[in-house]
Amino acid sequence: MNKLKQVLNNLLECKSPQELIDEGSNSELKKTLNVFDLIVLGIGAVVGTGIFTIIGSAIVGSSDGAGAGSAVVISMILAAIASVFSALSYSEIASMIPVAGSAYTYTYATMGELMAWMVGWILMLEYAIGNITVASAWTGYFVQFLKGFKHILPAFVVNCPLWLRNDYRTMYEICNKYGWDVHDKMPFLHLPFGFEIPIAINFPAIAIVLILTILLIRGVKESTKVATIMVGVNMSIILSFIIVGAFYIKPENWTPFAPNGLEGIFTGAFVIFFAYIGFDAISTAAEETKNPQRDLPIAIMGTLILCTILYILAALVLTGIVPFKAIDTQAPLAHAMRFININWYAGLISMGALCALTSVLLIYQLGTTRILFAMSRDNFLPKSLTTIHKKFKTPHVLTWISGLIVIICALFMDLNISAELCNFGTFTSFIIICIAVLILRKTEPDRPRPFKVPFCPWFPILGIITCLGLMYCKFSAKATSALYFIIWLVIGVVIYASYSYKSKRNEDL
Ligand code: ALA
Repeated sequence: MNKLKQVLNNLLECKSPQELIDEGSNSELKKTLNVFDLIVLGIGAVVGTGIFTIIGSAIVGSSDGAGAGSAVVISMILAAIASVFSALSYSEIASMIPVAGSAYTYTYATMGELMAWMVGWILMLEYAIGNITVASAWTGYFVQFLKGFKHILPAFVVNCPLWLRNDYRTMYEICNKYGWDVHDKMPFLHLPFGFEIPIAINFPAIAIVLILTILLIRGVKESTKVATIMVGVNMSIILSFIIVGAFYIKPENWTPFAPNGLEGIFTGAFVIFFAYIGFDAISTAAEETKNPQRDLPIAIMGTLILCTILYILAALVLTGIVPFKAIDTQAPLAHAMRFININWYAGLISMGALCALTSVLLIYQLGTTRILFAMSRDNFLPKSLTTIHKKFKTPHVLTWISGLIVIICALFMDLNISAELCNFGTFTSFIIICIAVLILRKTEPDRPRPFKVPFCPWFPILGIITCLGLMYCKFSAKATSALYFIIWLVIGVVIYASYSYKSKRNEDL
């Protein structure tokens, strides 16, 4: 009985916020980021696949649900509202406990050891698995971009074979679609075989992740410099899309405004929520921020507001230029420019999309590394992983590990499944953050809070309800990813029980 009580105590053991802050201030990580760098990180993490690709299915719909039509702007506002409660909660805690690790760290301070491990493990879905989706989408735009140079580049580069730009699963599905058998040796596919097994690798996705891994090892400041350029390019392209496109709007395209009524609007909100994921990545860089108490809340809220405005304007222009049914779901913004016969501009948009996706990749990998860093420092994972590079002062071992996770999974993981899993991870971390605010208000009422969630407890409670609602939609509609999510949770518990729990107890010796 006593033993059981001891185990329970261990599972619920919290780290005090002060202990976390002390650890953070002793950190060897360089403190170089200011509010501008953080907003660049935020926009870089948020603006990506959502606005460049997923907006198309949010408007038109897919086999999974009806589209919102022009009312996608309402869907966007709904998705922003769902995010804003969590953003406010993130801001309060990030300014109060400015250390690396994001929701993982905050859970450790409020809900104990087991929950902290599980949240860290779930965050890997958001960051590492989410990165697989973005890397695969990156390949799509890269191939489109290369096609713009068909008169300059050799044909084998422009028409890169399918097996060299798709993971095995996608290759299998493409073959299925055309009624081919992936195991048949069809000369036109040029599919190589190893031990009679067809080989397909998403080479561009792997190459970009590898390049970014090396960049991140060279230092976070250097990486955010690259992100600044990328964010600058993709912002200019979206802004110019809005300005140029505004001259071609035909207001009749906005009617009917909501062709699928409320169902379309809610389904659209659920789909476009993906476009808002990422602002929480800002809090993972807390230990590298010069003035975290002031800068983190400004950067988090600033990013969310800027992105919402940008998304709504882009959506209004897109639905104003192209009739609802004709909107493309692969590259909707580029297609819109082709629709009004500005073909060269479609190429420019592909370039903007590439920049956006590259910065999302960069920032998500930074996030993966920093969360793993915090988890290793807490002995959930081997402490040796936290080794900091002597010259570059970055956690190089973990940076390689996070790069390799994406590279290996990108070999066989499907883009859609990884996107859905990423959503599950994000919803869960948002819910946890809102709960953490409520707990800390009770357990640490006097700790200074440079930023406070207004209307507490109502705003955090609304955050929990909206995220749970979206998750429930997904659970009832998408059994495969829901099942994968449960499997992911079970694997997390097994690792904790077989390694982390013991490793934590050795720490106490
Ligand atoms: N919000 C990020 C994107 O749209 C995940 O790519």
